[in-house]
Amino acid sequence: MTIYRAQHSGFCFGVKRAIKLAQDAKAHYIGKQIFTLGELIHNPQIVHELKNGGIEPANSVDELHDSVVIIRSHGITRSERLELQQNGNVIIDATCPYVARTHELIRDMIREGYQVYIMGDADHPEVIGMLSYGDEHTRVISPREDVCKANYQKVSLISQTTQKMDDLIDLSGKLLNCTKELRIFNTICLATSERQTASLSLASETDLMFVVGGKRSSNTRQLYAICKAQTECYHIEDETEITPEMLIGKETIGITAGASTPDDMIIKVYNQIKEINRDPSFAKSIEEIPLFKEESC
Ligand code: F3S
Repeated sequence: MTIYRAQHSGFCFGVKRAIKLAQDAKAHYIGKQIFTLGELIHNPQIVHELKNGGIEPANSVDELHDSVVIIRSHGITRSERLELQQNGNVIIDATCPYVARTHELIRDMIREGYQVYIMGDADHPEVIGMLSYGDEHTRVISPREDVCKANYQKVSLISQTTQKMDDLIDLSGKLLNCTKELRIFNTICLATSERQTASLSLASETDLMFVVGGKRSSNTRQLYAICKAQTECYHIEDETEITPEMLIGKETIGITAGASTPDDMIIKVYNQIKEINRDPSFAKSIEEIPLFKEESC
């Protein structure tokens, strides 16, 4: 059995930055309770570790008064930020700069008179935050939605950072049919597109894929959808979900991971596959897991 990890997988820049800011806050505000507004990242293990270190997730802004509050990489809404400030909180802003850019673009496009469409998942906190920078005409649309219900003069299409590039291209093409002027911003972040491309090429060469990451993680779910279209695939949060039955008859197995999955978890998944396969050559570091490059095959 051969096991590969995707060329790009695991923690992205924005998640690493958020964790670093949380660690710095802990070191700086000694003895003070620190909160994250919602879970810092969609990864149960990391959230658990943060709790053990005294950084607790709060469910809503109402709970936070005169505290130290870390805004997670997805960002928050305009009104939440205002309320946090009014309630005397110290804000540590871990909003990913790529998400912050979408907020600026939405503001700019509204100012220039465009009807703004946000391609994304309407229930996702990142999109809820983005929407708050729009106006009463700004709408969230899903990639498969019928967008041409009227003819438009000026439309701007801005994507949630973790959407699929193919969907942005499709939706742009649809909108062109009913819009005089269309401004499209490629706000899908590089970490996302690199992980999607690497996962696709690995999945197309394997008998089985494991996509590792939080079940609520949008970018992990996108990776799962991409891999599942190519080969047999499981979305798992940790190594305990792997069963011997999953591996029967499989010769080449791929591992990829969402942007909020630590290297430790990828190593555990790799070693669990090895263990089930009675192969004692376990990996101690991420570098010891063979990396899949197109030229590998
Ligand atoms: Fe930022 Fe992209 Fe990660 S938007 S949080 S670097 S997936």
